[in-house]
Amino acid sequence: MYGLVNKAAQDFIIESQGEETWEIIKEKAGVKEEAFVSMQPYPDEITYNIVGAASEHLGLDANDILEGFGVYWIRFTMVEGYAHLLDLAGGTFPEFLNNLNNMHAHIAQSFTELKPPTFYCEEIDSKTFKFEYHSERPGLVRFVVGLLKGLGERFDLKINVEYIGNIDGKENSHEYRVSYE
Ligand code: HEM
Repeated sequence: MYGLVNKAAQDFIIESQGEETWEIIKEKAGVKEEAFVSMQPYPDEITYNIVGAASEHLGLDANDILEGFGVYWIRFTMVEGYAHLLDLAGGTFPEFLNNLNNMHAHIAQSFTELKPPTFYCEEIDSKTFKFEYHSERPGLVRFVVGLLKGLGERFDLKINVEYIGNIDGKENSHEYRVSYE
């Protein structure tokens, strides 16, 4: 994934655990780079290794880390120069959810090797959605839960996310039920 993602993971760990802990996790994850370059693509293994090493070193479930990272990603992009993109994507939570594909398509204009996820959103009632996440990557179910909760922070809403399961037996397609109040 792009260096931007690894940089966010690094900042997330430094902010929550401190610089020294990051150095240990970085070493454990086999990260050789002095610093990540936001606009450079890196092998996905690097991102997965950072989460794996953090899980091992901190004794935390990797999925809990991914969810926390998802929440952090929204705060991170707001201060890392992507606030305008978030603003453009929608002024309300449902509008935003319906614009996620457009937003990543826009991002792909500058991040030309982006392998963006795709989302599909269907209203069940005025405050409940069926939400689908389709990806080329495995293992990021709880990252998406965190992202949705991070959007809840942004819109000052309480978000409930229930994981429904795989879609049509496809390993990296997932369905959620999302409600907000
Ligand atoms: C301005 C805000 C955002 C920016 C700049 C951004 C950018 C990116 C980038 C660079 C990647 C790495 C993909 C790659 O390197 O191939 C990525 C992945 C991803 N993004 Fe976004 N994103 C933003 C907001 C969001 C939001 C709000 C969501 C969902 C609610 C989201 C969902 C995801 C997911 C799930 C992935 C993991 C990749 C995968 O499943 O294959 N992103 N995004």
